[in-house]
Amino acid sequence: MIRAFIAVELPEEVKSQVEAFQNRLRPSGADVSWVKDQNLHLTLKFLGDIEESTISSLKERLGPAVQPHQVFSLRLEGIGAFPSTTSPRVLWLGIGDGKETLLALASSVEKVCSDLGLPKEERPFSAHLTIGRVRSRDRLAALVKQLQTAEFQGSSPAPVNHLTLFQSTLSPHGPTYTPLAHLCLG
Ligand code: 2AM
Repeated sequence: MIRAFIAVELPEEVKSQVEAFQNRLRPSGADVSWVKDQNLHLTLKFLGDIEESTISSLKERLGPAVQPHQVFSLRLEGIGAFPSTTSPRVLWLGIGDGKETLLALASSVEKVCSDLGLPKEERPFSAHLTIGRVRSRDRLAALVKQLQTAEFQGSSPAPVNHLTLFQSTLSPHGPTYTPLAHLCLG
């Protein structure tokens, strides 16, 4: 079985901007596992553990489903948290420009996955870039305060010309994401 997901990769410049923003939140001292810059990505569909044969089918079917979507540019914009900024567990940056195209892509990906009999995502797709995960409630109040006042100026535009099918390997040192296939747009 392979733990896999489909995501949009981000250029180094944008990842550096995200890292700079993470560094502004770090002084809160809250117990957060900050996503390392090499692991920053925008997930379109989390697949979980799937058979290797399903990976082959996905590679075959995702290409033609993704290709009709035009190359586009997205910008990260706005700060948020799940389930809320007053009780944060997942910290994220939102999407400004490019959100519509991202939604359309997520829907095409979801269709391919459901045609292959993979479990449907019950929650509506909510485009976000996870930047950190809260591990405990230690010094959480300081983080909540910072979330209310911190501003993210918005990232540089990130050109998106492909999606990536990633393998996720979990370890005690954190996940490692390995690209298995690139699916080109346009
Ligand atoms: P998220 O944390 O940004 O929501 C690889 O684990 C990626 O798949 C993560 O970026 C995570 O996105 C996403 N994902 C979605 N649902 C998941 C789940 N149930 N377990 C692990 N990762 C999930």
